[in-house]
Amino acid sequence: MAILLKGKEVSTRIKDELKNEVAALKEKGIHPGLAVILVGEDPASQVYVRNKKLACEYVGINSFEYLLPESTTQEELIELIEKLNKDDTVSGILCQLPVPKHIDEEAVINAIAPNKDVDAFHPVNVGKIMTGNFDFVPCTPAGVMELIDESGIDVKGKECVVVGRSNIVGKPMAMLLLHRHGTVTICHSRTADLAEKTKNADILVAAVGIPEFIKGDMIKPGAVVIDVGINRIAPKKLVGDVEFEAAEKVAAAITPVPGGVGPMTIAMLMKNTLKAAEINHTKQEQ
Ligand code: GUN
Repeated sequence: MAILLKGKEVSTRIKDELKNEVAALKEKGIHPGLAVILVGEDPASQVYVRNKKLACEYVGINSFEYLLPESTTQEELIELIEKLNKDDTVSGILCQLPVPKHIDEEAVINAIAPNKDVDAFHPVNVGKIMTGNFDFVPCTPAGVMELIDESGIDVKGKECVVVGRSNIVGKPMAMLLLHRHGTVTICHSRTADLAEKTKNADILVAAVGIPEFIKGDMIKPGAVVIDVGINRIAPKKLVGDVEFEAAEKVAAAITPVPGGVGPMTIAMLMKNTLKAAEINHTKQEQ
């Protein structure tokens, strides 16, 4: 049976450490603040935004929440972002994705000042992730790296297979593993003979967004399996991108869903916000 990589527990440990770091920053007159913007009423996004606010409260970060109606125009949203870019009490800015269809996601990402882009989605920060000289690490891949470290496996020289090629997870995930000297293969839903690739993986990261897409017989015995997927298949049933029951019999270590990668993402967001506060020397709200 595989070791369970319990992101919920690890994330609490990290947030407790961050709580001390926030207190130390405040002593120096630096007051971290995170602005979170949500446009519309997508229920999953509402849960994520609420959890981000709760995490801010837990670690002592000021949170500024902007819950905007679905009818908000792109101009109005960008105007708000530009105001927050100039606000000295705001260290980091996050616009929850997806945005409604009438808003261009890329224009929104590009409007956020790179030094406040705690998601690391701005092209400047994406470029820095490619070179390895980065301030902000995208939250989900950063959380995955922490869990891989928790498994005790050294990435160096290992076969790493990332299933999924999104800008938010798959692509930056591959870069982080590469920076740690893994041999990285990026696969996706249209990869021919996916099982042949995944069966090679010492570290398998599933981030394809398809419920239970990775079956037990696609996993190499003894692999570390990280499941980024959060798929709601019934009102009260969440599953990952990996068929958990079969996978845990084969893997050496595996993340559960929920309680695996999800809570880590939020802990990493808190970490990025602290970094932003240090970079921007955020002042206290007047
Ligand atoms: N939607 C799903 N994941 C994320 C994330 O990490 N950041 C933002 N801003 N939106 C998301």
